[in-house]
Amino acid sequence: MKKTIAKTMGKAHAKNNRSIALIGFMGTGKTTTGALLAKQLEFQFLDTDAIIEDCQGQNIAQIFNENGEAYFRKLETETLKRLLLNDRQIIATGGGIILSEENRRLLKTHSYLVCLTASPELIYERTKEETTRPLLLSPDPKAQIKKLLADRQEYYQIAQLTINTNELDPDEICKKILFNYRQS
Ligand code: S3P
Repeated sequence: MKKTIAKTMGKAHAKNNRSIALIGFMGTGKTTTGALLAKQLEFQFLDTDAIIEDCQGQNIAQIFNENGEAYFRKLETETLKRLLLNDRQIIATGGGIILSEENRRLLKTHSYLVCLTASPELIYERTKEETTRPLLLSPDPKAQIKKLLADRQEYYQIAQLTINTNELDPDEICKKILFNYRQS
């Protein structure tokens, strides 16, 4: 009997250490939510874009301009592989990380995977003042958002949990993630 309890507790403990990865389109709140969630769970917070920028000594726009999107995507995969080796992390990913089949497999295998969504209108409102996202520097950013969302929709569906953030603040989003993570 004692053995069974110890075994069950051990398993539950290991499960509660599992890293959580946040995927979702630009402007859906992955970084804000991830940082808050990490605080609440006392996990380490990591952001793939920020790590790539630190390692390269350049911001995302510079990397895209100087070396192109394909080069950035390679850096994304390298970074993800490294990060997913560890438990007890909240990993906020760049919106396009799910474009690579390898990344999708890595995320599904090594993390509790959560997708944040928002309407194209809200994404536009949240991102319109920023100049840091090269893929949205288009003459018609609204149309570009809709097109990219449509292209990527099926990939975002790999998540175990999807949360529409339109009506939620970061605290409410964290509550939903924590509830489902603990049940998973
Ligand atoms: C991208 C999203 C960005 C960043 C890069 C490309 C994308 O990250 O990785 O500009 O392809 O959707 P955020 O989703 O954090 O803005």
